[in-house]
Amino acid sequence: MFILASTGSAIGLGNVWRFPYMAGIYGGGTFILAYLFFILLFVIPGMVIEITAGAEGGPPFFKGFRKLVGKFWLFSILPFALCWIIFSYYMVITGWVLFYFVFSLFGNPPAFSDAAGGWVLPAFSFAALAMVSIVSALGVRKGIEKLNLYLMPLLFLSLIFLLANTAGLDGASESIAFITAVDLGGIANPQLLIAAFAQALFSLSVGMGILFTYGSYLRRKSGILGSVAAVAVLDTSFSLISAFIVFAITFTFALSPATGPTLVFETLPRALELVPLGNVLLPVFFLLLFFAAMTSAISLLEVLVSGVEGVGWSRPKTVLVVVAATALLFIPSLLSYSPVGLQFGGMPFLDYLNSVFVDRLMPVAMAVLVLLLAWKWKGAAAAFSSVFSPTPGRIFYAITKYLLPFTILLQMI
Ligand code: PHE
Repeated sequence: MFILASTGSAIGLGNVWRFPYMAGIYGGGTFILAYLFFILLFVIPGMVIEITAGAEGGPPFFKGFRKLVGKFWLFSILPFALCWIIFSYYMVITGWVLFYFVFSLFGNPPAFSDAAGGWVLPAFSFAALAMVSIVSALGVRKGIEKLNLYLMPLLFLSLIFLLANTAGLDGASESIAFITAVDLGGIANPQLLIAAFAQALFSLSVGMGILFTYGSYLRRKSGILGSVAAVAVLDTSFSLISAFIVFAITFTFALSPATGPTLVFETLPRALELVPLGNVLLPVFFLLLFFAAMTSAISLLEVLVSGVEGVGWSRPKTVLVVVAATALLFIPSLLSYSPVGLQFGGMPFLDYLNSVFVDRLMPVAMAVLVLLLAWKWKGAAAAFSSVFSPTPGRIFYAITKYLLPFTILLQMI
């Protein structure tokens, strides 16, 4: 269940939406090679330290940190705050995906700008928030574990279905050529390296307290390396298959792979209409995105719930308070893509939160979390040597202590 839930958190919009468009911008295989390198060298040790720390600290969130790092627990407020901000607008976007799923069942879904001019789109965001809150209120075993148990197999089935129906397209061989085209000369591009590293951290939900929280519920502390490897392999395969599907469609219709963020939301639905079975593929595609978003959203919410649960409230009351606190940012984000068109700093409120806050806060919060655990938690070295054997353990611990946090901060430049 731990592997399933962590994979559920890892697989999200980052795999289906962000990975293909980033790989598209940075020339395919070269980006992917850099991404794989960062997963092996940096992200796996980052996951290990978060999970083992969570397992040793135990729930609830802040108490766990206090047990491990004493008064320095205050720094854990930073990743907690980051989860709060991200969760608030992640639910708005999850609602959009649900809207597109429902409308694609009845033929052609409306263009996004038209949808945002009415109240139906924001109503779907409310529905998505209500669903996640109810699941969370049911608790870890009856809510989160059950959600992942049912949605994750469906998620993989939808992916296989899409794969089977795009593998025969004319663009399929070009897609494979693009994904495997490695230009070793181009890999030294610092922008590409930073983008691949950021994608690797984001995709595996490292450095935000999520793996710490899920780790805190582990009943058994053995087998962590196997779990980490399974999550990394599943998440990476998911990204690679998504990229193959997206590019197979892109090349079949002679579209550009380097379109950027709109690649999946605008280009793909229009192209899918032209594929045989497109009227089935489109809802399956949005359902896939919706499941992926739900299992990630529940992990973000769990950090918040675990943090507030420390006060001693019951689970349902905690969820209610957390969701009410989320509304402070959720409602303005929602209104920014409604007939109100709420703006802040010259852009929709949601974009402001994302580009001004999250893009800047994320590297800082991640670096702080890793620094906190690698430098202040006395059990860190021992955890690494028990998860890996002593010598690789020492190497990975040194990477996590001296290289990882500072490499994360390079993203700020
Ligand atoms: N890992 C998720 C993805 O790839 C994103 C995410 C990050 C979700 C952090 C929750 C928390 O989409």
